[in-house]
Order: sequence, then structure tokens, then C-alpha cells
Amino acid sequence: MKFFLDTADVAAIKAVNELGIVDGVTTNPTIISREGRDFETVIKEICQIVDGPVSAEVTGTTAEEMIAQAHDIAKWADNIVVKIPMTMEGLKAVNVLSKEHIKTNVTLIFTVSQGLMAIKAGATFISPFVGRLEDIGTDAYELISDLRDIIDFYDFDTEIIAASIRNRAQVEGVAKCGAHIATIPAPLFDKMTQHPLTDNGLKQFMADWKVFQGK
Ligand code: G3P
Repeated sequence: MKFFLDTADVAAIKAVNELGIVDGVTTNPTIISREGRDFETVIKEICQIVDGPVSAEVTGTTAEEMIAQAHDIAKWADNIVVKIPMTMEGLKAVNVLSKEHIKTNVTLIFTVSQGLMAIKAGATFISPFVGRLEDIGTDAYELISDLRDIIDFYDFDTEIIAASIRNRAQVEGVAKCGAHIATIPAPLFDKMTQHPLTDNGLKQFMADWKVFQGK
């Protein structure tokens, strides 16, 4: 299973990247707008830090606009993935881009049908939104597990990025139901390394060691 970081915070990406367990990055217009910096500059910086796929989202609404933007974005780096919204126009764009070997991530997936259509259009990745599904009381793990079964049964190449993840239980849940990737906000990534019993245990070990050294 792979971990992506769901952020455009370059400092946070650099820090976490040193752990060696980050396989890619995802962004969206909301995440980029938080940085208050030029979209292209930020994405290019991220692509230099991380070896794996970096998703940058189009903002056009017609297939033509999305394709034109995708052509531009795809030139920014070798590890770029163009993020496309799950709409009819988005699917048209994905179909064209996949034939041109431009990698795509179809975002805002909430049903098996949406996922299947994006897979059939040639999406490299599909992004079901776990947190937002749980917000409306829908079982996100069943959706991911169904999509994974379909991908494996028909031998599709598409990978599932579990997105809209907000807590550790969701990361653990998507890992257990077959998501290929979990994209995780940077603050949650930090939290996932921690447990109060780890801190207490370490404190105790150090204290005992000090006493032993003093003898
Ligand atoms: O990966 C998509 C994610 O950034 C959206 O998260 O918490 O706004 O639903 P959230």
C-alpha cells in the first residue's frame, strides 16, 4: 500500500519526505489556494521533492478546456498526474488524455458507477472521498472494497486513491479494504507516528537507564 501526502505545503512535504515512506502527493484548488502562491511554481517545487506521482487539478469545466490545461500541466514535470473532476466532460477529457499517455486522477468519486466509468475512460487513478462519504453516513469502505474487487476481477490498471481522509481510523480502514493508496493531510501524517503510551514508555526507559548508569 502507498502513502501520498494531501497537501501543497512544501515545507511539510520536505519534512515528511525524509521518512522515506511518502510515495506521492495530491493537491486540489482548495489546497493550492491555502498556499497563496502561484499554482505552477508550487507544483513544480513539489515535483522536485517527491519522486512519485503529483496530482495537479484542472479548473476548466468543458472537456476542451480540461484537455488544453492538462497539456500545459503535463509539461511541468515527468511525475505529473492531471486531476480531473468526475463529470461527463471530465470523462471525455480522460478518454483523450489516456490515449495520449497523460496520467489522470479522477476526483470526487462517491459511487461504484462513477468509479467504474472513470476506470473505463482510462483513469490512472480514481479518488473516492472517504471523509465526505462518512459525513453523509455512507459506508466509504464498502465503496472502496467494491471498486477494488472490480479492478482485480477485470484486471484494470487503475489504482484507488482513498482521499478526503481526516483521521487515523480512516487510514487504517482504507488499508484494510484494499485501497492502493491513502492520501493523507500532513498534520495527520505526523499524528500517525504518535501514541501517548509510546511517549510514556520511552520516558520510562530513559529514566531507568539513567538510574542504571548512575550505579
Ligand atoms: O483529497 C481530497 C481532500 O483534500 C478533500 O478533503 O477533508 O476537504 O473532504 P476534505
